[in-house]
Amino acid sequence: MSANLIVTAADGVVTVKMNRPDVLNALDGEMLRALVDTLQPFDRDPECGCIVLTGSEKAFAAGADIREMNEKSYLDAYHSDFLAGWEAFARLRTPKIAAVSGYALGGGCELAMMCDIIYAGRSAIFGQPEIRLGVIPGMGGSQRLTRLIGRAKAMDMILTGRQMDAQEAEHSGLVARLFDDAALLFETQKAARIIASYGKAATLAARETVNRAEETSLTEGLLFERRAFHALFATQDQKEGMTAFLEKRPARFVGK
Ligand code: HXC
Repeated sequence: MSANLIVTAADGVVTVKMNRPDVLNALDGEMLRALVDTLQPFDRDPECGCIVLTGSEKAFAAGADIREMNEKSYLDAYHSDFLAGWEAFARLRTPKIAAVSGYALGGGCELAMMCDIIYAGRSAIFGQPEIRLGVIPGMGGSQRLTRLIGRAKAMDMILTGRQMDAQEAEHSGLVARLFDDAALLFETQKAARIIASYGKAATLAARETVNRAEETSLTEGLLFERRAFHALFATQDQKEGMTAFLEKRPARFVGK
């Protein structure tokens, strides 16, 4: 396990805290490998129902590591398909929640947007400041931010490099819920445990269908949703969920 990550697992929830305090959790190749290598086995584990990704009070992550990027040539970036590896994190199928306090800038904001839900502490600051460094977002910012908050605000953020505070981020639809900083991780883990308590086939399908809405036409998306819905009738958890409702008792999902 990497020194850059602090990993805990309980009640079907794995919590990963990024831990490079000296550089405000700047995201380098080692952090990427550590995150993906740590999380892929959990992703395949039917007992793991939700992933929480967080940073420190001061920074979720202040962006891609500028020191690592500074000397790269075009050919270095092109041949290594620099930053493409982060999509392996986005592709993890288990629902992921980003718990953001402090700075989520550049790649940090983009990493949060690779998660399925963003919860933020009131100190959170989001931004895509790459333009100030002579580049543009390279880990999905121009695409995911535009889909999440719309063209007007995304263009404003990306062209000016300005920061967005937590309240504006919540009003804009980037952040699902705001909490006091002191309560952020507790509330996030509470929500994660709720998600993990459901049947994993249903949560995977729920995540997949919502994400499909960003990729496809309404007609295709509705068909995709209906087929995924039909498939859940093959699970024990569907029988358990509906029977428990009719018997007026809590459901006990078994992930089958
Ligand atoms: C490497 C970083 C860093 C980063 C901060 N540090 N961000 N190192 N990469 N992205 C380091 C600083 O150099 C400093 O190291 C230490 O962390 C503390 O940062 P300070 O600047 O002293 O802290 P503060 O004054 O509180 O300012 C915080 C900050 C500022 C506003 C977040 O650090 C900042 O603007 N950081 C860069 C944000 C950014 O541009 N992100 C986008 C990166 S590009 P020392 O050694 O001096 O103590 C990106 C692109 C993605 O993400 C893909 C497209 C290419």
